[in-house]
Amino acid sequence: LGSGSRPRDLEGRRVVVSAGGTREPLDPVRFLGNRSSGRQGVALAAAAAARGARVTLVAAHLEVPVPAGVEVVGVTTAAELGEAVRARAAGSDVVVMAAAVADFRPATRTSTKIKKSDDPARDPVVVLERNPDVLAGLVRERVGAAPVVVGFAAETGDASGSVLEHGRAKLARKGCDLLVLNEVGETRGFAAATNAVTLLGADGSEREVPEAGKDVVADAVWDAVVPMLTSPAT
Ligand code: CTP
Ligand code: CA
Repeated sequence: LGSGSRPRDLEGRRVVVSAGGTREPLDPVRFLGNRSSGRQGVALAAAAAARGARVTLVAAHLEVPVPAGVEVVGVTTAAELGEAVRARAAGSDVVVMAAAVADFRPATRTSTKIKKSDDPARDPVVVLERNPDVLAGLVRERVGAAPVVVGFAAETGDASGSVLEHGRAKLARKGCDLLVLNEVGETRGFAAATNAVTLLGADGSEREVPEAGKDVVADAVWDAVVPMLTSPAT
């Protein structure tokens, strides 16, 4: 789908997209991170801009170039990402949480580099503490129906349920309007150019987007979001 054939159905809309993977510092040179490339979030931001939206991309360590025509706010930690998203959510029509946000951070961050001592018995143990859930906070704090909140979930099936069952449970738990459900495995999801997702709506709707470029997936997400925009465009 070329940008020329895209509908301008996000004209007058403000959109916030978080993308990439957060990093939680242990010391000045080390961090806990994740494998998110930011590709899908960047594709969502680019597609929204092409459809006429004013887009802010809250970017955590992207491995891909940022699209032209979007405002970019760089962040590192989950706390920074949360602050940047919350600050911009109030005046926006849609918030898409495509970023891989660290669930936990080291409980302490040393200001100097962690060193080995002569005694291995004194090797450090990393204690983690929980980060706040940005997505759940957006849902909790929103006023009326705006903004529309879109979450992502990367799941594997396991003994306690299938990918779809985990997705539905997460949608209910988070309370967002749309959940972009991604089955992850050895070769799928992270860093790949393509993606296969299922779009789960809070109304019980379910739409499968077969393996396609992340730009095609992005347009499918916006196709699902547009009918959820009830307030008038400004
Ligand atoms: N998310 C968030 N803040 C966090 C963790 C996750 O906003 N501290 C958002 C992600 O950006 C994503 C959605 O929540 O849109 C789902 O993330 P995921 O890691 O799949 O869900 P969790 O609730 O963290 O559950 P899990 O235990 O499966 O990691
Ligand atoms: Ca998580």
